[in-house]
Amino acid sequence: MKTLENQILADKIQKLKKEKNAVILAHYYQVSEIQDIADFIGDSLQLSQNAKSTDADIIVFAGVHFMAETAKILSPGKKVLLPDLEAGCSLADSCPPDKFKKFKEEHPGHIVISYINCSAQIKALSDIICTSSNALKIVESFPKEQKIIFAPDKNLGGYINQVSGRNMVLWNGSCEVHDIIKAEEVIRLKSIHPDAKLIAHPECKDIILQMADYIGSTTALLNFSIKDPSQKFIVATETGILHQMKKSSPGKEFIIVPTDKKCNCNDCPYMKLNTLEKLYLSLKNEKPEILLPEALIKAAESPILRMLELSS
Ligand code: 13P
Ligand code: SF4
Repeated sequence: MKTLENQILADKIQKLKKEKNAVILAHYYQVSEIQDIADFIGDSLQLSQNAKSTDADIIVFAGVHFMAETAKILSPGKKVLLPDLEAGCSLADSCPPDKFKKFKEEHPGHIVISYINCSAQIKALSDIICTSSNALKIVESFPKEQKIIFAPDKNLGGYINQVSGRNMVLWNGSCEVHDIIKAEEVIRLKSIHPDAKLIAHPECKDIILQMADYIGSTTALLNFSIKDPSQKFIVATETGILHQMKKSSPGKEFIIVPTDKKCNCNDCPYMKLNTLEKLYLSLKNEKPEILLPEALIKAAESPILRMLELSS
């Protein structure tokens, strides 16, 4: 929403950004006013590529904690700010490092492929990282007989097992925002809008993915909605993506699969902790800052770099 207050904040942010040589990276699940002032908007892969290549002194990460941590790991010499330090992630939290370490020990001979939605400690326990946009490519870069643990998202891992014909061992984690999307709700919307295409993020449950006309990362879903001739889309992911979809295709209709009877939305409570005001304050005060021990940065860096090399 463009209010006078937001416009004043946006102007102050632009001024500070220039003064401090800062860059704002925003994920598609951020509120629209943050997306509108960001230097880069993208999915997890694009944002990590941006975080590694930027020559800014300060990165303000408008996203969640694991994303800002990844930026710090890739650009340890830069100051990385997260507007609200409480912006965590239920999927990352579903994989505690001590339990995962034990799980790894119980599966000798397996390599670990971890979805980027995990803590720096889990990354450090992994051989390679992937995102929703390159998971299939990363998994298929290993021979079929290679034993693999996939963590932490069982839904993405199950989907990749299906399309690649693999049998990866899956960590039992999920994202509360995608896992809650109900098949009955999708069926109801499909019956009301038989002319709509269902597009879904692979963090959704298998039953949702089976009904989908297209499955992909946030960027892939956005691109599909632009290129596909359909005029109507039922969108099974977080609400924030609708902002760019509507901007890119103003004539098309987008219907989010709601998880709450009270609103037509599916908001990530962590992504939505960031506000324009908190972003302004973080840039002004240069905090909260993401700080990580050097040894952890070193250990978590190589599996991410391995992913980036395979994705370039
Ligand atoms: P992508 O934008 O990489 O598809 O990730 C979605 C997500 O859940 C981020 O938290
Ligand atoms: Fe984590 Fe899900 Fe929110 Fe993404 S949408 S940040 S995976 S809780």
